[in-house]
Amino acid sequence: MKKVNKLPFYHEPVLAQEVLHYLLINPDGIYYDGTLGGGGHALLFLQKLTSQALYIGVDRDEQALEYARRRLSAFHNVVYYHGLYNDIGSALQAANCSRPDVIFLDLGVSSHQINSDQRGFAFRPHIALDMRMDREQALTAADILAEYEEKDLIRIFKEYGEERHSRRIARVIVRQRSEKPLRFSDDLISVIERCVPGKQKIKSYARIFQALRIEVNRELDILKEALEQGLNYLKPGGRMGVISYHSLEDRMVKNFFKEQENPCTCPPELPVCVCGKQPRLKRLRPWLIIPTEEEIKKNPRARSAKFRVGEKL
Ligand SMILES: C[S@@+](CC[C@H](N)C(=O)[O-])C[C@H]1O[C@@H](n2cnc3c(N)ncnc32)[C@H](O)[C@@H]1O
Repeated sequence: MKKVNKLPFYHEPVLAQEVLHYLLINPDGIYYDGTLGGGGHALLFLQKLTSQALYIGVDRDEQALEYARRRLSAFHNVVYYHGLYNDIGSALQAANCSRPDVIFLDLGVSSHQINSDQRGFAFRPHIALDMRMDREQALTAADILAEYEEKDLIRIFKEYGEERHSRRIARVIVRQRSEKPLRFSDDLISVIERCVPGKQKIKSYARIFQALRIEVNRELDILKEALEQGLNYLKPGGRMGVISYHSLEDRMVKNFFKEQENPCTCPPELPVCVCGKQPRLKRLRPWLIIPTEEEIKKNPRARSAKFRVGEKL
């Protein structure tokens, strides 16, 4: 077993055994990890892969790549790529290879990102409203609150946060920002507090913060494109596995896998298919893999994880 650099805690890989069980399909294969993070899953894979295998680790967060590089320095078959995980073609080109055996995405943010106050993901007090996963990007959550029209704020709170009080919250934000910009978590929390009654507040904080994070990082658009691109690039017989942490992402993955397994659009009364659309993927059973109670007890951040795996035909 290779010696691994001991570094301060970064992130606990979720569903680790399940990910290996479904995705470790070829010890000499090409693995595309679109969300390298602290390299937790990567390390588990690399310890089982041969030196012939190639592991491509992608992250949009330069700090995460830096950490993973140090952690995985004993392994010489890793290519690190700073970019978006839907940019599969460029990452494969940078790694000088064409088709991966496995594509793995562990969506969202790492514990390290959530725990770092200066990244602005959490709704703890006195945190600047930043939320950029890639700090080279210009748009922050504070910019959205300062610049978006009321109707666009309503749209993102509704669509990405599924928040019932979206209209009221957006209206108060627009009124508030004409007096004083909303720059810190407290500014936003006090708006939500004024708009949402009683105990519902706590859930609304989470929903509004989630909506802003999705908008800042264009999370859903990128995921949609990555699923399509991923299936195009994957080798036949290769597998795509995605862990998601909120219902919008999981719905997108679930529907994509379903549609690719059964793409026929012919009316059911037709005796034979005339649309000619062929299945491109088979969903592996069980269709939904979730963490055990034991894992959730050890790592409460795993509680909302949903893992789905498809095999390219
Ligand atoms: C949940 S963490 C991954 C943790 C990793 N599996 C581990 O075990 O350490 C998600 C990571 O994906 C990155 N990320 C999120 N969206 C991304 C995107 N569109 N493109 C590239 N990286 C992304 C985040 O910066 C974060 O480091």
